[in-house]
Amino acid sequence: MSILQFPEGFLWGVATSAYQIEGAWNEDGKGESIWDRFVHRPYNVLNGDTGDIACDHYHRMPEDVALMKELGMETYRFSIAWPRVLPQGRGAVNGKGLDFYDHLVDNLLAAGIVPNATLNHWDYPQALQELGGWPNRDSADWFADYARVVFDRLGDRVAFWATHNEPWVIAFIGYAWGALAPGICDYSQAYQTIHHLLLAHGKTVQLFRQGGYKGQIGIVLNLGHFEPASDSDADRAACQRAYEENVALFMDPLFKGCYPQTLLDWIGPHAPHVQSGDMAVISQPIDFLGVNYYTTNAISFSPRGLLKADSATISAPGWGRTEMDWGINPPGLAALLLHIKEKYGNPEMYVTENGCALKDTPDEHGFVADWGRVNFLRDHFRAAHEAIQAGANLRGYYIWSLMDNFEWAMGFGPRFGILRVNCDTGARIPKQSARWYSQVIAQNGVNE
Ligand code: FCB
Repeated sequence: MSILQFPEGFLWGVATSAYQIEGAWNEDGKGESIWDRFVHRPYNVLNGDTGDIACDHYHRMPEDVALMKELGMETYRFSIAWPRVLPQGRGAVNGKGLDFYDHLVDNLLAAGIVPNATLNHWDYPQALQELGGWPNRDSADWFADYARVVFDRLGDRVAFWATHNEPWVIAFIGYAWGALAPGICDYSQAYQTIHHLLLAHGKTVQLFRQGGYKGQIGIVLNLGHFEPASDSDADRAACQRAYEENVALFMDPLFKGCYPQTLLDWIGPHAPHVQSGDMAVISQPIDFLGVNYYTTNAISFSPRGLLKADSATISAPGWGRTEMDWGINPPGLAALLLHIKEKYGNPEMYVTENGCALKDTPDEHGFVADWGRVNFLRDHFRAAHEAIQAGANLRGYYIWSLMDNFEWAMGFGPRFGILRVNCDTGARIPKQSARWYSQVIAQNGVNE
């Protein structure tokens, strides 16, 4: 069997986020985040699950890094909990919180694993939420100040920085639909949140350059692939709107310095307030774009909702659906990467998340023969390879996730890990997919 070889230096790794794995929600001086607040309210999370303990990574970090080393991981994407570093979101720094990330980075480097840190993976400080949260324009400066504290401590050792993870999710699911923290239902706040997230990003990139820190800086977006559900004019127009809201609304300001005007016209009074000079700050050149790819979405016209568009994830022929009922469409990844290449000048890209939740059945030793996940990953790697062959500037790939963890409002039900986590003992057991991934990394390629 021949091997589809990836370019030399291509980086393979895994991703996690602080709230989903750390636990220790109120230890060592950590402040409350909007996720702590959200999960402690009834009915917000399935089965009343919380991330209070999660995977207890805060206490098991050295073991987790050792496992990654054993599996041959080249890079690890994690996030930093803002309220662990600044319990009130601003002001006094919590030394112990910073120490944790300092040790994590040192452990990674000692294990030969390249650190990739995200500053905002959704766990915004509750104290700042009480001052209005992201819809408050001051959030952009609060975030940049927090970033500076982290850069000053870790900026000499972290190779890749991302400002935000998936601003679309924060804004729409957190502020428009209310299904994730902070649980608000208000479109105007959602669009304003996007603008302030982007402004915070731009200001942080600026100060990162001014500070002369080592490493590269970028942002992580969830960019699915979008197709009209039919050839009808109504579906095609709805698809264009959905595409603009999910992709162009973020990519245009970052890479072209403007919002998509047709979308602004469509949302009318909900459009964000933009001050003069903002777009120049937002469109600071970045070093890389993080692409989270999970689904391809078929879009149809709907008489309901602000966007008048319904979205359904679809599967390529022969594929079923994941445990979360997400369609599986590996070719959508290649299409997306090539679209970014064509429309946005082919920036350096990393797939910063891709993976699937499957129903895992452990044997008596806790081992999971997750061949479904292996197949899922193999075909997505092939799609990435195809995109690279066609010229996409893709430099690395992170599987979501290193281990089964707290899947936000879905709690601990969906398991995305290549390590199985035993909920009772916390033990981590590599699944078949972890063994298989080690081979992919070792040969820097995937079977044809
Ligand atoms: C992404 C999130 C990540 C994880 C995966 C399944 O949207 O960034 O934290 O929950 O989905």
